[in-house]
Amino acid sequence: MCRVGFRRSEAFNYPFSLNPNHSHPALDPERLPRHVAVIMDGNGRWAKERGKDRVHGHYEGVLSVREIVNTCGEIGIPYLTLYAFSAENWNRPQAEVNALMELLVNTLRKEVEDLRHKGVRLRVIGDVESLPQVCQKELDEAMEITKDNSRVTLILALSYSGRQEITKAAQRLAQAAVSGNINPENITEADFEACLYTTGFPEPELMIRTSGEHRISNFLLYQLAYAELYFTPTHWPDFRRAHFLEALTDYQKRERRFGKTSEQIQSI
Ligand code: FPP
Repeated sequence: MCRVGFRRSEAFNYPFSLNPNHSHPALDPERLPRHVAVIMDGNGRWAKERGKDRVHGHYEGVLSVREIVNTCGEIGIPYLTLYAFSAENWNRPQAEVNALMELLVNTLRKEVEDLRHKGVRLRVIGDVESLPQVCQKELDEAMEITKDNSRVTLILALSYSGRQEITKAAQRLAQAAVSGNINPENITEADFEACLYTTGFPEPELMIRTSGEHRISNFLLYQLAYAELYFTPTHWPDFRRAHFLEALTDYQKRERRFGKTSEQIQSI
């Protein structure tokens, strides 16, 4: 059964397509994850190692973002979530926060036409209302411009906190119970998932974190329950197409058992 969002022929007909069989013989296009989530870590260290300001690492990180989004479109990965700014990142020096917000606005302005052209639909998860008005406006416009695309859904996690997302879902369900719209005893996982920011998106099957840290850092705490985790020492600005294909190859070597035995999985 084809598990990818696009049929093989569609992925290969894509005008920007690089046939994955040519670009990376080890990768099986039939067994790609439908959703990859990424913690883009190491921008600051990348810049520091080059004697530059941390912000320079974020600028360079945008080039990696572009390359990974393009690769998803080319090989047929329909959902990509990028942890672009955590709720905890508000505690960084104000100058860096400002630079990141400015970078977000400028990048959206610069890239939105290209995203539209390449079939990318932009979505945002997180406490969006805490972002500066100018960011919210630019995000709204970019989401509107790209809303009919379906090749890749690019989900930016902005001012995002997994615990906050779960807490908000609990609040919504509690309110529904208090107002008599739901019986607490009947609350299902599906009800809970419907209250998360990510409702409607498949759960990530692969989570990549760059730059050598082995943590989840409050990212998609509910949704990563069964994700394969891939950690690489490469800093985000250096993480490009070849590194991404390497992560996907590693993913394809793993056996995803979901609590079953290896024999059960192999007999399916
Ligand atoms: C983590 O590296 C990275 C961030 C907090 C920001 C990520 C932002 C980008 C890649 C650019 C903006 C993205 C878009 C979509 C426009 P770090 O600064 O924590 O690195 P360090 O751990 O080495 O200090």
